[in-house]
Amino acid sequence: MKLHVNPKRLVGQRNPMLYGHFIEHFHRQIYDGIYDPENSLSDEDGFRTDIIDAMKKIKVPILRWPGGCFVSSYHWKDAVGKNRQPFFDKAWRVEDPNTFGTDEYIKMCRKIGCEPYICTNAGTGTAEEMSDWVEYCNLETEGKYAKWRIANGHEKPYNVKYWSIGNENYGNWEIGAKSSDEWWRLVKEAAKMILHVSPTVELSAAALSDIDWTLNLLKNCGSYLKWVSLHGYWDMVPEKNELANYTQCMAYTDQVDRAVKDVRGLLTALHLEKNIKIAFDEWNLRSWHHPNVHTIQQGIDKDSYVTPRNKNDDNSSYTMADAVFTACFLNAMNRNCDIVGMANFAPILNTRGCIYSYKDGIVLRSTYHVFDLYVNYMGDLVLDDWQEGEHPKLTVTAKNGKQVTTELLDIVATQHSENGMISVSIVNKDPEHAQTLSICFDEMNLSFCQVQEHRITGTDVDSYNDINHNEVMIETLPAKEIQGTYEAVLPAHSINVIDFKF
Ligand code: AHR
Repeated sequence: MKLHVNPKRLVGQRNPMLYGHFIEHFHRQIYDGIYDPENSLSDEDGFRTDIIDAMKKIKVPILRWPGGCFVSSYHWKDAVGKNRQPFFDKAWRVEDPNTFGTDEYIKMCRKIGCEPYICTNAGTGTAEEMSDWVEYCNLETEGKYAKWRIANGHEKPYNVKYWSIGNENYGNWEIGAKSSDEWWRLVKEAAKMILHVSPTVELSAAALSDIDWTLNLLKNCGSYLKWVSLHGYWDMVPEKNELANYTQCMAYTDQVDRAVKDVRGLLTALHLEKNIKIAFDEWNLRSWHHPNVHTIQQGIDKDSYVTPRNKNDDNSSYTMADAVFTACFLNAMNRNCDIVGMANFAPILNTRGCIYSYKDGIVLRSTYHVFDLYVNYMGDLVLDDWQEGEHPKLTVTAKNGKQVTTELLDIVATQHSENGMISVSIVNKDPEHAQTLSICFDEMNLSFCQVQEHRITGTDVDSYNDINHNEVMIETLPAKEIQGTYEAVLPAHSINVIDFKF
């Protein structure tokens, strides 16, 4: 197959927030995760410096918090000020000490150098409670909540720009689940009050491929929103931690933009596609494992619903399947960068995160290196490309037993606006065989060009990283001079970013 890249045809400029992340009050993401005041690796504010440094290396642009399901019975006022009382987190059925709240979150974002993105409680919360939170964060001195922030030692407003009204309030698993009509009414009232407080913030609310839900939301609230939120997990293992293997995971790779296509259609039909962007603000190949809480029959003892959460910490679970899927997802978001402005890997730390932490250090899982590759090597301008000749295909048996045929190569061409270099991402999903690809540039004189390849391959499809065990990392090959078409050889189960300097 021959890949034609046309540098003169721009698909769009991707928003850096496509490489965003999410962190929730769940298991060891916050407590005993990034916020660990007793740990010798933590700084004077109680944050793990090794984790912060790893987040800075992948230039985390935005970090959504505090949930997720957690937020739908969370009251932010209990976690600011000097008198922090523990509360029982009804979503995850554990006690939250409330020692990590809005002020600690903002401090963490400042250390990482990322935008805060606060998800509010549309479960048990009210429009007023949400807008009070915005007062606390964004008003200079007016009203009691800005004065409370100042009294807590934070003189200047935080100017939090991104706010989500609620989480997955469409789901019966969510505390305070809503019908479509209940949903748009709450979103509208919350949006009105929030914008009365801080008219320049950008609001998001949960959308779905479900036409009624999203049409109701957009018809009634479209003028208040800048974003609609989508969530996606493909290997669904909340109750049984039976993970899809590599080839089963490849069956998911062509599905990642299905919801984007559906919601794009609705936005376009309502002539809102220029005003509202999609925030895919929770996504991961694998759902989190937390049995007996999203069910009617709840676990009785902690060993039936808390202890099993430790299975998410098995680092050997995060293999080249997760890395290849993650690259395919990021490629799909780049291809849709005209309508998708944000995506948040769920979560960034522990659970299914790209970083795993333990008392004495961290492990950079396979997916971390994919973010490193995309953030630090791919361009910001997405270029048009087309593939001449037979497209190689891969047919696999999905987890549900069905045969699925998918494109073997997943490709996105980009250009760096600062220096014109072209960087092409090519994912080879083939579990066993290398693939070749001829790459040429239409209407460009390729008399002289320097090529350099960066790739993640692992040693086999089940390669993973763990403490004192590193099989997956970025490998950069020596640069070479070429003329005309470039013949790329793409190893089995690999993610490749190939630079072309003219
Ligand atoms: O499994 C974690 C949960 O997945 C998040 O809290 C929620 O937003 C999504 O359903």
